[in-house]
Amino acid sequence: MSKSVLLKSSIAKKYWMAFTGLFLCLFLVGHLIGNLQLFAGGEEGRRAFNEYAYFMQHNPLIKVMSYVTYLSILFHAIDGILLAFQNKKARPIQYAMDNAASNSSSASRKMAILGSIILIFIATHMVNFWAKMHFGGLQLHTTTKTVNMPIGQNPQTGEYVNEDIEVSYILSIKGEYLDHKYKNPKTGETQERYDIKHETMVYDKSSKLKVSEGYKDLHTAVMTFFGKDAQGQKKNQYALIAILFYTLSMAVLSFHLLHGFAAAFQTLGLRHPRYTPLIKMFGIIFAIVVPALFALIPLYIFIS
Ligand code: HEM
Repeated sequence: MSKSVLLKSSIAKKYWMAFTGLFLCLFLVGHLIGNLQLFAGGEEGRRAFNEYAYFMQHNPLIKVMSYVTYLSILFHAIDGILLAFQNKKARPIQYAMDNAASNSSSASRKMAILGSIILIFIATHMVNFWAKMHFGGLQLHTTTKTVNMPIGQNPQTGEYVNEDIEVSYILSIKGEYLDHKYKNPKTGETQERYDIKHETMVYDKSSKLKVSEGYKDLHTAVMTFFGKDAQGQKKNQYALIAILFYTLSMAVLSFHLLHGFAAAFQTLGLRHPRYTPLIKMFGIIFAIVVPALFALIPLYIFIS
């Protein structure tokens, strides 16, 4: 292969890295804004997050953006690893001073290592949440209330007899709560009004007609993962490991972004005496604030 082709392909890779990297920064901002809803508590917060997750899964434009995101992650990762190998091959003798700032081979190797850790994070992260959302494993969004209601009539006096009954409601995508299950805690007797098919479809038990669709409870899955259940009780004993893993991964992401943001603008040749220092400053703030806010979410869920 001629030297110029190698150079060309190396420059092409850098451009791909810059474009996909900046696009992934946009994804991070969108993902963070969506996830910030996890700070809102109660049934309202849970409902808002599950409605948002449903929208993200069903809106055609968002679906296309999701595929662009998956491809960008793959391109960015593969190109980054290839570039690190290419740089190493081009300079088989290491610099005497292994200084990342003055040595692009060393910098790209460090970026490749940080990026690989982030890739492992994304893979495990998608198994934990995304795969459950898309391929099953989530409960329907239901909420339970105790209601004092008449359960029969006294045959002698004709008076209605009331008892506390636990009623489970399914939140339908039409926005209403469907009274699904009635349970008498005294007798353990239960009665169900609906059949659930294909995970989320609600059918009337007697008419067999489809009534509505329910939301998947992604909110509870996230809460449980980071140490809480829907009622706010601490449960998951592995939550601390998950939180530590997320915090460390966000630190790695921060280091990756600190170098990556400035490198992308340099590759694209966007240099200006006035704006370059501003872009650099913005990059530093972005690289610290975005991962820090991501890391705060699991900590907040666990502590609150
Ligand atoms: C505490 C921080 C985070 C939380 C609570 C969180 C939560 C979630 C949840 C619940 C989903 C599933 C959404 C769905 O399928 O509808 C998801 C998907 C995803 N997350 Fe995260 N996330 C966090 C941080 C991150 C970070 C830092 C990255 C990247 C470095 C990331 C990358 C992704 C990707 C690529 C998907 C798939 C998105 C798609 O299908 O369009 N997440 N995340």
